[in-house]
Amino acid sequence: MYPLTTTQHYPRNQWWVAAYSAEVGEALMMREILGERVLLYRTQAGEAVAMSAICPHRAYPLEQGQRVGDAVQCGYHGFTFGPDGTCLRVPSQPGVPQKSSLRRYPVVETAGLVWVWTGDVDMASSAQLPDLAAMGLGRDDWAVEQHALVTINARYTLLIENLLDLSHVSFIHATTIPGGEMVASIPVSVEETAQSITVVRKGQNLPANPLIKVQFPGQEDPVNQDFDAEYISPALVRTGGAMSDAASGRPLGTQNYIHLITPASPTRVHYFVNTARDFAVNNPALGQMQIAMGTKIQPEDIAAIEAIELVLQSDATLPTEISARVDNGALKVRRRLEMQIKSEQATA
Ligand code: FES
Ligand SMILES: [Fe+2]
Repeated sequence: MYPLTTTQHYPRNQWWVAAYSAEVGEALMMREILGERVLLYRTQAGEAVAMSAICPHRAYPLEQGQRVGDAVQCGYHGFTFGPDGTCLRVPSQPGVPQKSSLRRYPVVETAGLVWVWTGDVDMASSAQLPDLAAMGLGRDDWAVEQHALVTINARYTLLIENLLDLSHVSFIHATTIPGGEMVASIPVSVEETAQSITVVRKGQNLPANPLIKVQFPGQEDPVNQDFDAEYISPALVRTGGAMSDAASGRPLGTQNYIHLITPASPTRVHYFVNTARDFAVNNPALGQMQIAMGTKIQPEDIAAIEAIELVLQSDATLPTEISARVDNGALKVRRRLEMQIKSEQATA
């Protein structure tokens, strides 16, 4: 499916953010992930668990069932499942039918995020999680804001490509991102490693815009500012970067935007944004400002990619796609993502 040439929409041997930690409690909740209905809750010991939310008896939605201790009882005929998905009880008979367990998803909880592994259970390893601390998540010396989850009516690849092509900042965010009008004119390069593909823009000698002046009181002189767009996996893109005083080179600080991306279905995507900074970490006003900016900026991106999704879903014949030089990074990401999906299919 466009923009990928693979028949499978997403890689499955992958950690994805299922929820913020604060969302998952004793109550049962369901979240659609990669087209599957996933039941999430927390055991009495506080451990987050994830398993199929569809009762294998007659497909009743288990999030509408009830907790019995750490187990879940289906609301229709009372089949009961343990937190590992095992069917423990069928009220109408002794014993349980064969193959009555629910699919279980491996879970790791870190940095206030509940990650689930959607692929081969034997391949799940927390070593495959991204290095969140390097971006400022889950550590005391950075300030982090978790922005409200938004579910977008567009395929996840459109969101990834939106984040990798920051030349759009000068257009759809011209009035909402201070200094955004500069971004499209900064020279672009692409850095590729085994871990990531980064579209690099090193802004030089930029006038201190109103946001910089709030973040770094007293900074009236021009700054150097990195506008990175780093693809780490289909589940995580980091934008933002380091800022310094242009004349002296004195570091000011780093502001990262951590975009956590979880396909809900082939044409919908969950979008969790975390902002993280290593300066003024005890100034909550800066965090509130990031949240307020996000509520203005995000709808602009969402409107754009939902509009594209509608075009893609229409019967219109698409023109032959053309790309600009700034799209090189996004095109490399497409190929890397396709390779990830194809290598899974080859070993399946
Ligand atoms: S549908 Fe769940 S017990 Fe029958
Ligand atoms: Fe944007």
